Amino acid sequence: MALLARQVVASEKWRRELTKEAGRALRRTGHGVGSLHKQPQGPKWLPYLIDPLESIAMSIEVPKIKLNNGVEIPAVGLGTWQSKAGEVEKAVEYALKEVGYRHLDCAWAYGNEKEVGDGIRASGVPRSEVFITSKLWGTWHNRVEECLDQTLTNLGTDYIDLPLNPKGNHPVFPTLPSGKRDVYHEWDLKDTWKQMEELVKKGKVKSIGVSNFSEAKLELILPTATIIPAVNQLEIHVYNPQHKLLKYLKDKGIAVEAYSPLGSTNSPLFTDDVVVSIASKHSIQPSDVLLGYLLAKDIIILPKSVTPARIAANFGPAVTAAKKLDTADIEQLDGLAAAGKQKRFITPPWPVDLGFDNWPPLPA
Ligand SMILES: NC(=O)c1ccc[n+]([C@@H]2O[C@H](COP(=O)([O-])OP(=O)(O)OC[C@H]3O[C@@H](n4cnc5c(N)ncnc54)[C@H](OP(=O)(O)O)[C@@H]3O)[C@@H](O)[C@H]2O)c1
Repeated sequence: MALLARQVVASEKWRRELTKEAGRALRRTGHGVGSLHKQPQGPKWLPYLIDPLESIAMSIEVPKIKLNNGVEIPAVGLGTWQSKAGEVEKAVEYALKEVGYRHLDCAWAYGNEKEVGDGIRASGVPRSEVFITSKLWGTWHNRVEECLDQTLTNLGTDYIDLPLNPKGNHPVFPTLPSGKRDVYHEWDLKDTWKQMEELVKKGKVKSIGVSNFSEAKLELILPTATIIPAVNQLEIHVYNPQHKLLKYLKDKGIAVEAYSPLGSTNSPLFTDDVVVSIASKHSIQPSDVLLGYLLAKDIIILPKSVTPARIAANFGPAVTAAKKLDTADIEQLDGLAAAGKQKRFITPPWPVDLGFDNWPPLPA
């Protein structure tokens, strides 16, 4: 493996993170940690940092998925939900500039789109090279363009590649006097979709899609849609594979994006015995198995991290893992949920039947 020597101006925390992951990466590739000390000049670490992550990530071509309108979307995108202001700008800059990400998953409701925009500009990567997704929040279904305009201002860009239309209703979280979430049950999703289609006609977005749409909800908009949603962004991982819905989406030509592909915050998936044994079989990390499994099934993945080593690990190594996993591994992972491990991690208490399998009972 060719190692690159690069001058890095890194904060102490980031340097430590990179150093730890570099050691792991070198061990995985058969290089001893001693290789890290073979620097071109002097015995000390800084200002030179040999960064095997960069050579791993940059030498990997991340696949692209062709959407039903011909637009290509990079199969690995950086998630930004719960990425705090102060962290997300650096994470986005690092992902774009140092690792090679070209896809960001954002949302008006995440409250951090301004910092995401700052990160894009700080990276120096041209806007035209980055695929940006944002999401209409539930309280804006009757004012779709207004919500998009706020997102465009926040991000500091004049178009979005893909806005999604999640199901729900908040301003961010309006409630009734009873404390229950206040949802406008009479609203017709067909009318939201019409407004989404207008955004394409106006050139403010390149593609439109949906998020958290079950088959039942899609059937509400498809009969009158003039544009078929390009993607459906869903909670998909080894404990919530949604095989039936994925088959339906494939038949309709709608690409699938997996959110919470690692099982979200404090995930138990990294220590699942099957995931760990497959990781050990191929000498890769459990995160590689979780992400590689989805990529191998042509699912777009949106892992979130604000930790440099993880941002890098979720990119190249995930793509490599997708090629290493064999049919038996995929079959085993496909069967985990049915074997009793079915679990959703993201089930906000909407008093609305979204039409999904395995959803907890609605709040009374
Ligand atoms: N449409 C929707 O309704 C919806 C809902 C949820 C999420 N999303 C999108 O999907 C993205 C991803 O979902 P998510 O944020 O719920 O969860 P996720 O990506 O499955 O997991 C993120 C968590 O895993 C940690 N992590 C990341 N890479 C890791 C690695 N290689 N090893 C160990 N830990 C790792 C992160 O920590 P650190 O950040 O501290 O490194 C964070 O705590 C979101 O950010 C958002 O863009 C959309």
